[in-house]
Amino acid sequence: MIKVLFVCLGNICRSPLAEGILRQQAFLDNQAIECDSAGTSTYHIGELPDERAQHIAQKNNMILTHRARQIQREDFEKFDYIIAMDRSVYQNILSYKTRVSNATETNIMLMRNFDDIKGVLDVFDPYYGTPKDFEEMQVVLSRCIKNFLQFLKE
Ligand code: 4NP
Repeated sequence: MIKVLFVCLGNICRSPLAEGILRQQAFLDNQAIECDSAGTSTYHIGELPDERAQHIAQKNNMILTHRARQIQREDFEKFDYIIAMDRSVYQNILSYKTRVSNATETNIMLMRNFDDIKGVLDVFDPYYGTPKDFEEMQVVLSRCIKNFLQFLKE
C-alpha cells in the first residue's frame, strides 16, 4: 500500500486537513492509501487540529482526530511520499533528512506541484489568517490531492 505523509509547520491546520481530504477522496475512489501528517515544529505536539480547520473539515463531511506530532527519522523509511505544504517546510524537511537519514526511496515533494492552477508554490499558512483563508486552503488542498491521486494511478 502506498504511504503518504503531509507536513506543515504546526501540524494543526494544513497537514491534518490534507490528511483528512486524502483519506476521504481515496475512500470514495476505492484507492488503498495509508496517510498521516506531521509538523516540522514542536509548537503544538499532542494537540487536536485548530478549531477553524476542524470546522472546515466538518463542513466537508470529515472529522479530524489527528494529534499533532513532529516529523521523525523513521518517517523517511516508512513513507513513499512526503508532501510539504510550502517551500520553507520543504527546505526544512530536506535539511533535517540530510542530518538523520540515508533513505533513498522517499519522494519529498511540494503540495502545489500537483496544482493545475500554476504560479503559486505554497499552500498559504492560515494560522494568523481569516476564516476565508481556511475556506481557500480547503479548496486548494482538495484540488491538489485530486491531482495527486490521479498521479499515483498513472
Ligand atoms: P500549520 O499552521 O503549519 O498549517 O499547522 C500553523 C500552526 C501554528 C503555527 C504556525 C502555523 N504557529 O506558529 O504556532
